[in-house]
Amino acid sequence: MSSRIEELKAREQASLAGGGSERIARQHAAGKLTARERVHLLLDPESFQELDQLVVSPPSDGLTQFVGDGVVSGFGKVDSRTVYVFAQDFTVHGGSLSFANAKKIVKVMQLAMKMGVPIIALNDSGGARIQEGVKSLAGYADIFLLNTLASGVVPQISAIMGPCAGGAVYSPALTDFIIMVQDTSYMFVTGPDVIRAVTHEEVTKEALGGAKTHNETSGVAHFSVSDDRACLALIRELISFLPSNNLDDAPIRPTNDPPDRSNEAINSIIPENPNQPYDMKKVIREIVDDGHFLEVQAAFGRSIVVGFAHMNGKSVGIVANQPAYLAGVLDIDSSTKGARFVRFCDAFNIPLITLEDVPGFLPGTKQEFGGIIRHGAKLLFAFSEATVPKLTVITRKAYGGAYCVMASKHLRTDVNFAYPHAEIAVMGSEGAVNIIHRNALKTAEDPDALRQALTEEYRQRFASPFVAAEEGFIDEVIEPRDTRRRLIQALAMLDTKRESSPPKKHGNMPL
Ligand code: HXC
Repeated sequence: MSSRIEELKAREQASLAGGGSERIARQHAAGKLTARERVHLLLDPESFQELDQLVVSPPSDGLTQFVGDGVVSGFGKVDSRTVYVFAQDFTVHGGSLSFANAKKIVKVMQLAMKMGVPIIALNDSGGARIQEGVKSLAGYADIFLLNTLASGVVPQISAIMGPCAGGAVYSPALTDFIIMVQDTSYMFVTGPDVIRAVTHEEVTKEALGGAKTHNETSGVAHFSVSDDRACLALIRELISFLPSNNLDDAPIRPTNDPPDRSNEAINSIIPENPNQPYDMKKVIREIVDDGHFLEVQAAFGRSIVVGFAHMNGKSVGIVANQPAYLAGVLDIDSSTKGARFVRFCDAFNIPLITLEDVPGFLPGTKQEFGGIIRHGAKLLFAFSEATVPKLTVITRKAYGGAYCVMASKHLRTDVNFAYPHAEIAVMGSEGAVNIIHRNALKTAEDPDALRQALTEEYRQRFASPFVAAEEGFIDEVIEPRDTRRRLIQALAMLDTKRESSPPKKHGNMPL
């Protein structure tokens, strides 16, 4: 009996060696850390407690058995808060997923849901363990189900730190955030060889599914980082903005930044000429605690900016039009990006601050054929169904349907502010005058002078934020310098907000 225990203890020790020193050296030579090194760097020192270290797959023809079976799993702390984690070990059969190691992953996911804490997945795998056939596929499907059930219950963060290909991509795809490491990670459903055979296209792994592609083009990933260490540091930072589960609030981050700090600088950031661009990120940094903003999906759908910040220590999600890119229009990518972020914040009790400067939806056949109607509706749906505290500041333009979409009062937004120079209208004043005074302008002696006068009159009569305030669609016209103070006051007032929607199984979001 004791010799059996001795043997198991020895095996436990053996599991620490992963796939052996040669494979570990190869992993390092490829610029990657091992699964264990990653877990230890991710978690607070000495906090990792491993589970299922002794698990092995049943013997199969010609396949070496490794104790732990290619995944390191357990729980630990990030800034003293519990998280569950699993890390695929590429040094063991290429980190491939066996039925036994899938069971380890499912176990930590179930435990994380039971305890109400985040799940962190460190992916580095050659996919389904080829020698196991359908058992491995079953393992994947079990994980996909758990990803779906955990969605909206606990935050799920996936780091891609090596290969992630085939159906395996669908576990990260079901989670809330995907972080990709530049040069060493890739994700695709079918690789370059299959593509060459089927469509005769030539493409490299990197171009097909590297960090740049998924951050800039496909929008699959949310962050791109330079190496493993940066990836693990980013996960820690991201978690600092998030509650542990859907019933908790995010932790307060103490700050010395005064809640009533004046934002005089906004006047010089936003040009008076409504056609001149400016960088909305400068406005965001001016308003939030310590100028610190964690942007999400920075390189995708760039006419909208989304990300996390703190306001007087409280975690908030920011959604902002970006006049510096395509004049801040809503298009397919920016609408879906915004919608997904809004839904994440709503699921996890993170108040939403919307900074609005939007000239409308992007015109063109590319957008219409691509389904801007369907995709734009996602953003409308997301803002409408969100019941977290919602605050909107119209910084300059709010035109047409985009006015309605961007957390307008009509979508149950709690507090709606506008700056004095804001324009809220069906369309830009000049465009409107060209339509409604077409005949007068045609026959005018000096059409330019008349257009200018009519435009100014239109602006005053219809587009002024005071007109919207008269209707109660804007609660108050505020000076830019008061933005931080007023938003923080409003957030404090909304601390006890309770709002619900009609009972239903779920809505039918236009996917
Ligand atoms: C079993 C695998 C494996 C796998 C890699 N290995 N992938 N073992 N099942 N899926 C093993 C290799 O045999 C090798 O073992 C070790 O891991 C390291 O692999 P290398 O090829 O030496 O490494 P590298 O050159 O870095 O290439 C990595 C790789 C390549 C690109 C991932 O191994 C590869 O193409 N593997 C197959 C990928 C694949 O087709 N997977 C199935 C995808 S479909 P030794 O003992 O020699 O060190 C899928 C379906 C999921 O996953 C469906 C879910 C619904």
